[in-house]
Formats: sequence, structure tokens, C-alpha cells
Amino acid sequence: MAKPDPLVEMRHISRNFGGLQALSNANLEVYPGEVLGLLGHNGAGKSTLIKILAGAETASEGAIFINGHEAHINGPNDARAYGIETIYQELALCGNLDAPANLYMGREISNWGFLNKKAMKEETAKALSRLNIRIKSLDTEVETMSGGQRQAISIGRAVHFNAKILIMDEPTAALGMEESKMVMDLTVELKKQGIGIIWISHDIHEVYNFTDRITILHGGENVVTAPTKDFTEDEIVSMIISGRPVERAANEEA
Ligand SMILES: Nc1ncnc2c1ncn2[C@@H]1O[C@H](COP(=O)(O)OP(=O)(O)OP(=O)(O)O)[C@@H](O)[C@H]1O
Ligand SMILES: [Mg+2]
Repeated sequence: MAKPDPLVEMRHISRNFGGLQALSNANLEVYPGEVLGLLGHNGAGKSTLIKILAGAETASEGAIFINGHEAHINGPNDARAYGIETIYQELALCGNLDAPANLYMGREISNWGFLNKKAMKEETAKALSRLNIRIKSLDTEVETMSGGQRQAISIGRAVHFNAKILIMDEPTAALGMEESKMVMDLTVELKKQGIGIIWISHDIHEVYNFTDRITILHGGENVVTAPTKDFTEDEIVSMIISGRPVERAANEEA
């Protein structure tokens, strides 16, 4: 079967902070309807790479292509215009606002200068129900919600605003098992809609079972990019630590 064209290609991305080379010639590709696991130990450059895609950080060198065309991403609004949405663990939502206010933050519906709260609430209810996200009351301030519910609202927001590429930086790090499962179930729904997902996680077991492909970074450089199941969990851990692709005997090659 012919592979579809990538949604995103980040090519030869470098970024230094003063004398520190956070990324060096890093590449990343995301295809529609897949979950790409972005792996590497602390400081490997994962967040810096996705921040460049999200417009929160700029590359010193390199280029980004969206649907085969070079994209110019100079800020978060540029990224959003390309359909790139980012979900951060806690930072994304405003705790003292309810779900509709959060969903529409920065893109409020207003008529003649007045916020149309009724429309935002109705649209929020529709957006969340499309994804089977159940929130007890849309009038509740989100700071009283669980991490999983907040995560669900962030995902609902991204989808509502037509995300094509969803970046999730350690989405399950602060969640319990049930909530992680809910977020993963939601993510599977997004895959079915053809959204490409970048999933950063330190939980190797989760990554192994949940991602379609992996890209491992080490010291800001690519170690390997491959279908997840080309390796064992132990091999993935060893590549993350050593920064070297695992050696295979020639007869093991696919
Ligand atoms: N704004 C910054 N100023 C200076 N150095 C930075 C900045 N952001 C990141 N770095 C450095 O760049 C390197 C890569 O950081 P990055 O946050 O991308 O790592 P990471 O792979 O996301 O790690 P973690 O798993 O801990 O989140 C690190 O050495 C980090 O200290
Ligand atoms: Mg990080």
C-alpha cells in the first residue's frame, strides 16, 4: 500500500541556546492518522523540537513542510493557522474559567462587542459530545476538574478548531490509569479522523503499546525513526540511553 504524504516534515532543524546545542540537524515526520512517539531522555530536545513546530520557539536552522509546502511559523497563531494544536499538561487551561470560556479562549464568539455566552456553551456541549467527553456541568470552573477532564477539554478544543496535527507533550504524566485510558481512547478517535499526533512520553510501556512509529532523540540528534514494533521495549530503552541504534544481525533485517 502506498504511504500517504506526510502532514508534517521538520527537516534539518537545529537550535542552540547560547553555547548549548539543544537540537542538531533533527528530522521529524508525521503522517495522517498515526501516533508518532517522540522519545529521548531528559534534555534530549523533544520539547524544543515540538515548540518550534508550535511556534513557541524558533529554529536556528532548518525548514518545516506542511502537506509538502514550506511553512513559515513565527508564532503560535501561525501554527494554529496550519492546523497545529498543542496540548500541555496543565498550562493550557485557565483554572478560574468554565469549559466554554476555556474552549473559546482567544477566539470568543461575540455579537456587537458582547460575548455570546449562550452560543459558546452550546457549541462547547456539541464539541465535547462529538468526542464522547462527559463533563458534569459546563458551568464548573475547570480548576475543580480532574487532570483527565481538563485534558479532555483541551483535546475537545483542538478538535473543535480543526486541528490536523496535535502535539501532546507528556499528556499522561500526571494522570491516573483510568484518566490516561480516557485520553488514549480520545486520541484513537482523533486518529480515525486522520489527525496526526505527536506523543511525548517517558512511559515506555505506554509508548510501546500506543504509538505507531517512534522517533528517538539523543543530545538533540536523531537516533532512529521506525515503526514501534520493529523493536522490543528493551531495545527502545537501550537506544534512548545509549543514543545508538541497536545492532541487528543481517538475517534479522526485515
Ligand atoms: N529556553 C531555554 N534556554 C536555555 N536552554 C534551554 C531552553 N529550553 C531548553 N533548553 C535546553 O535545551 C535542551 C533540550 O531541552 P528540552 O526541553 O527540549 O528537552 P526534553 O527532551 O523536552 O526534556 P524533558 O524530557 O526533560 O522534558 C536541554 O539541555 C535544555 O536545558
Ligand atoms: Mg520536555
